[in-house]
Amino acid sequence: MTAVVRIEKLTKEYRLESVTVRALRSVSLTVEQGEFVALMGPSGSGKSTLLNQLGCLDRPTNGRYILANEDVSRIDDDRLSEIRSKYLGFIFQSYNLLPQYTVVENIEVPLLYQGCRLNEKTRLRCVQLAQLVGLGDRLDHRPMQLSGGQQQRVAIARSLVNDPHVILADEPTGNLDSRTSDEIMQMLMKLNDAGKTIIMVTHENDIAAWAKRIIRMRDGQIESDEQNVRAEIRHEMSGAFSASLSSLLAEAIR
Ligand SMILES: Nc1ncnc2c1ncn2[C@@H]1O[C@H](COP(=O)(O)OP(=O)(O)OP(=O)(O)O)[C@@H](O)[C@H]1O
Ligand SMILES: [Mg+2]
Repeated sequence: MTAVVRIEKLTKEYRLESVTVRALRSVSLTVEQGEFVALMGPSGSGKSTLLNQLGCLDRPTNGRYILANEDVSRIDDDRLSEIRSKYLGFIFQSYNLLPQYTVVENIEVPLLYQGCRLNEKTRLRCVQLAQLVGLGDRLDHRPMQLSGGQQQRVAIARSLVNDPHVILADEPTGNLDSRTSDEIMQMLMKLNDAGKTIIMVTHENDIAAWAKRIIRMRDGQIESDEQNVRAEIRHEMSGAFSASLSSLLAEAIR
């Protein structure tokens, strides 16, 4: 197994006037390629702070972060955003789609950030990704014309467009009802079966139950870290979806 994510004694402090909040206190964690991790813990325990660190969205106060063999804790901003768009995909609770853009255009957004020129090939990939997440008949819809579950599926397709090593999801089902949440989790499970590493924050036990590994945080530290054997069984039962995703992402688009 290869470690895709490795953090060593990571500390994050927020200074607000005279008060210092120690949001992460010397956290060490390794995630191997192909893992599906749920990050749990009470409000304020540091889950989003950790996810933001893993997503290179913020810098640590101390400690090291090695992403795909590169030490990203000290590199400059340009290289950091390059790494972010190359290795990472993001899914948020509130979907974060651009309202004026269509489904396909929203899926294209990370390519634009990467400085990629849009052409027929990129368009085809985005259409295929939309089809893969079941939105083939909604290509020209805008976010307002979609349900919450559909919007989150656009976000999933968008997170895949760069063929990332790791998908980071902060409460991806937080705004969805339980049936729609299950559909989204099925999709994340299939992505994981297709080889994508997933690290997901959730408050809900039902949602964490889909993950193969459950990490609980408390007061900025990891309190427990356990394999979830029952999720493995569920994964073994899931069918083939990987083949279409792999072939779809196989060809370089740049
Ligand atoms: N930008 C910030 N400035 C100052 N303090 C912050 C900032 N972001 C987070 N914190 C503090 O860091 C701690 C951890 O916050 P974090 O958002 O990581 O918690 P969380 O586990 O994601 O909680 P929730 O479940 O409510 O989303 C909290 O005490 C919070 O108040
Ligand atoms: Mg949070």
